[in-house]
Amino acid sequence: MFGFRLEGKVAIITGAASGIGEAAAKLFVENGAFVVVADIQEELGLKVVASIAGPDIDRAIYKKCDVTVEKQVEETVAFAIEKYGTLDIMYSNAGILGPIDSILDMDMEEGFDRTMAINLRGPALCIKHAARAMVKRQVRGSIICTASTSSILGGGSPIAYNTSKHGLVGLVRSAASELGKHGIRVNCVSPYVVATPLAISGLSAMGINKASPSEIELLASSAANLKGVALKAKDIAEAALFLASNESSVYVSGHNLVVDGGFTVVHNSTTMLMETQIKQ
Ligand SMILES: NC(=O)c1ccc[n+]([C@@H]2O[C@H](COP(=O)([O-])OP(=O)(O)OC[C@H]3O[C@@H](n4cnc5c(N)ncnc54)[C@H](O)[C@@H]3O)[C@@H](O)[C@H]2O)c1
Repeated sequence: MFGFRLEGKVAIITGAASGIGEAAAKLFVENGAFVVVADIQEELGLKVVASIAGPDIDRAIYKKCDVTVEKQVEETVAFAIEKYGTLDIMYSNAGILGPIDSILDMDMEEGFDRTMAINLRGPALCIKHAARAMVKRQVRGSIICTASTSSILGGGSPIAYNTSKHGLVGLVRSAASELGKHGIRVNCVSPYVVATPLAISGLSAMGINKASPSEIELLASSAANLKGVALKAKDIAEAALFLASNESSVYVSGHNLVVDGGFTVVHNSTTMLMETQIKQ
């Protein structure tokens, strides 16, 4: 049953050829949006479009876009407007985990700079060009970025990744501050672990090879606060849908919507210690 919470809205989703972006593209289309699937993975992007557009082939379209290249981001915004007539939603979701290395011997170019270019400069470009188009057309748009629980906690993820996600929250808040006068909302969603290719690559870099999605979910659940449920890409897409839709349009801006079952607000070691004391 489709809810049509984005009826007639036009959205660009970066990193939509896989994982969370793919789930968001599907959910947005199911809710009545027209979606530009923007990604560097052309074959996968075209497959996503074919799988979600169904008989209404005009509902989604693939556009090759490397978010590190300003011209490509600008062209993707122009493409969406040319194809669908406007731009209401920019979901800047593309990201990489980057290498897992120590700050003591961090590769500054391939590790730090590349991670920053995709995870932080990319969203800055997406916000810049989406906002320019929205301001010009007087669209009270919604801009969403995918951050992470790594935007809040130190450790638990590679240092460049963690830094990029902390920076992303700053970017979102600053953009929300400047764009408020135009009626444009800017928010981010911060997931806990989701079993996507990004998570699989992270585990294989740690020597856990060929982990299946269910093995990743099991591992994530063992460290999670909320037990008995596994976080899925669709759950993050639902959070992004809320931020994109009229349900949040009255006053939600500059917000970091953390979807982590309480992981970042509970300190497990002290909680366990307290539970031991209570049992005694
Ligand atoms: N999976 C998790 O556990 C998790 C947790 C917290 C946050 N996130 C964030 O969610 C977002 C989506 O990741 P995912 O887990 O779905 O991973 P994923 O690997 O399934 O998808 C990421 C997509 O981004 C695309 N991409 C990478 N570099 C790009 C570039 N330069 N230009 C355009 N597209 C590019 C990839 O081709 C891929 O399709 C990322 O920002 C990630 O940091 C993921």
